[in-house]
Amino acid sequence: MVEVVERGRSVLKGFLDVNVVLSCTPGFFCARLSTLRRCEVRHPGPTGTGPCELSVDHGCLSKWTNRIKYGAAVVLLGAPVYLVALVWYGGSPMTLDVGYAPIQPVPFSHEVHAGQLGLDCRYCHSSVERSAHAGIPPTSTCMNCHASIGTTVETLDLVRTSFAEGTPIPWIKVHDLPDYAYFDHSAHVAAGVGCASCHGRVDQMGVVTQVQPLSMGWCLDCHRDPTPHLRPPEAVTRMDWVPTDGWMSLGSGQASHPGVFASTDCSTCHR
Ligand code: HEC
Ligand code: HEC
Ligand code: HEC
Ligand code: HEC
Ligand code: HEC
Repeated sequence: MVEVVERGRSVLKGFLDVNVVLSCTPGFFCARLSTLRRCEVRHPGPTGTGPCELSVDHGCLSKWTNRIKYGAAVVLLGAPVYLVALVWYGGSPMTLDVGYAPIQPVPFSHEVHAGQLGLDCRYCHSSVERSAHAGIPPTSTCMNCHASIGTTVETLDLVRTSFAEGTPIPWIKVHDLPDYAYFDHSAHVAAGVGCASCHGRVDQMGVVTQVQPLSMGWCLDCHRDPTPHLRPPEAVTRMDWVPTDGWMSLGSGQASHPGVFASTDCSTCHR
C-alpha cells in the first residue's frame, strides 16, 4: 500500500490530471471519504446508505489508499499509466516536485503552530541540529498541549487515537530525495543555512508545500557559492530573518566564512 502512495505521488502530480471513479461499499468509506478535501463524493442514495461513487484527484488518492481495500483496484488502474509516465518522466532532466503538497491524515497547520503560536521549529523537529534527519515529532509532543487543548475537536480524533494506542500518525512525506543522494540537516544548520532557504515560509503554510526542486543542480548552485545564503546560527529557524547591512558587509567568499566549505565533489552527496 505504501508503494502505491509513492507511485500515485510522482506519476499523477503536476502533469496528469487523473480522475479515478470508483464505487465503494456504503457506510464507513462514504462517510469518511466525504469529509476529505479534494474528494468529490457522489451519493446516489442518502448519505452513507446507498453505494456511492467517488471521484478523486491525486491528493485525495494518496491519502485514502493507505486505508482501504480498494488499493488493489488502484494498482490495476494505475499500472499502465505509471509505466508510460515512468519512462517519460524519469527520462526528463527536470524531475521537479515543486508544489507537491499532499493532504495529511491530520490537518496540522504550520501557519497556526509555527506562525500564530510562534513555536520554534526545533520544538518539534528536535533532531535537526544533531542528525541528518530533522525528524517528525511523535504524537506525545502534540499531546503536551492537546491533552488539554481541543479535547473534543474532531480534527484531533486521530491524534488522540494514535496516542492512546501507541500507533504513529501516518504522515505523508513531502520532501524525499532518492536514496542514492545523501543529505545532512545538521551540517547545514551548523553552517548557518536557514530552514527557509530550502523549505520557504513554512510558518505561512496551512499545508506543507515543497517550494524548491531539490534537484542536483539546485544543490550545486548553492554549494558553488553558499555565502550569500548564510545567516547567523541563531537565526537559522527564524522565518522572517532578512540580512542586515552589517551582516552583508561581511561580504561573500570563503575568506569571510573560513569554517564553511560546501564541497562539489561527487562523493559528498553520493557515498
Ligand atoms: C508543533 C509541532 C511542529 C512545529 C513547531 C513545526 N513543525 Fe514542521 N512538521 C510537524 C509535523 C507534525 C509535520 C508532518 C505533517 C506535515 O507535513 O504537515 C511537519 C512537517 C514539516 C515539513 C515537511 C516534512 C516532509 O515530510 O518533507 C517541513 C519542511 C517542516 N515541517 C518544517 C518546519 C519548520 C521550518 C518549522 C519552523 C518554522 C516547523 N516545521 C515547525 C510539526 C511541527
Ligand atoms: C504548544 C502547544 C501545541 C502543540 C505542541 C501542538 N498544538 Fe495543535 N494547536 C494548539 C492550539 C492552541 C490550537 C488552536 C488554534 C486555534 O484554535 O486557532 C491548535 C490547533 C490544532 C489543530 C486544529 C484543531 C481545530 O480546531 O480544528 C490541529 C489539527 C492540531 N492543532 C494538531 C496538532 C498536532 C498534530 C500536533 C503535534 C504535531 C500539535 N497540534 C501540537 C496548540 C498546540
Ligand atoms: C540545504 C537545504 C535544507 C535546509 C537548510 C533544511 N532542510 Fe529540511 N530537508 C531538506 C531536504 C533535501 C529534505 C529531504 C531529505 C531526504 O529525503 O532525505 C528535507 C527534509 C526535511 C524534513 C522531513 C524529515 C526529514 O528529516 O527528512 C523536515 C521535518 C525538515 N526537512 C525540516 C527542516 C527544518 C526545521 C529546517 C531548519 C532547522 C530544515 N529542514 C533545513 C533540505 C533542507
Ligand atoms: C542554500 C545553500 C545550500 C543548499 C541549497 C544545499 N546545501 Fe549542502 N551545504 C551547504 C553548506 C554551506 C555546506 C557546508 C557545511 C559545512 O561547512 O560544514 C553544505 C554541506 C553539505 C554536505 C556535507 C555535510 C558533511 O557531512 O560535511 C552535504 C552532504 C550536502 N551539503 C548535501 C546537500 C544536498 C544533497 C543538497 C541538495 C538536496 C544540498 N546540500 C543543498 C549549503 C547548501
Ligand atoms: C551537493 C550534492 C551533490 C553533489 C556534489 C553531486 N550530486 Fe549528483 N545528485 C544530487 C541529488 C540531490 C540528486 C537527485 C536529484 C533528483 O532527485 O532529481 C543527484 C542525482 C545524480 C544522478 C542521477 C541522474 C539524474 O539526473 O537524476 C547522477 C548520475 C549524479 N547525481 C551524478 C553526480 C556526479 C557524477 C557528481 C560529481 C560531478 C555529482 N552527482 C555531485 C546531489 C549531488
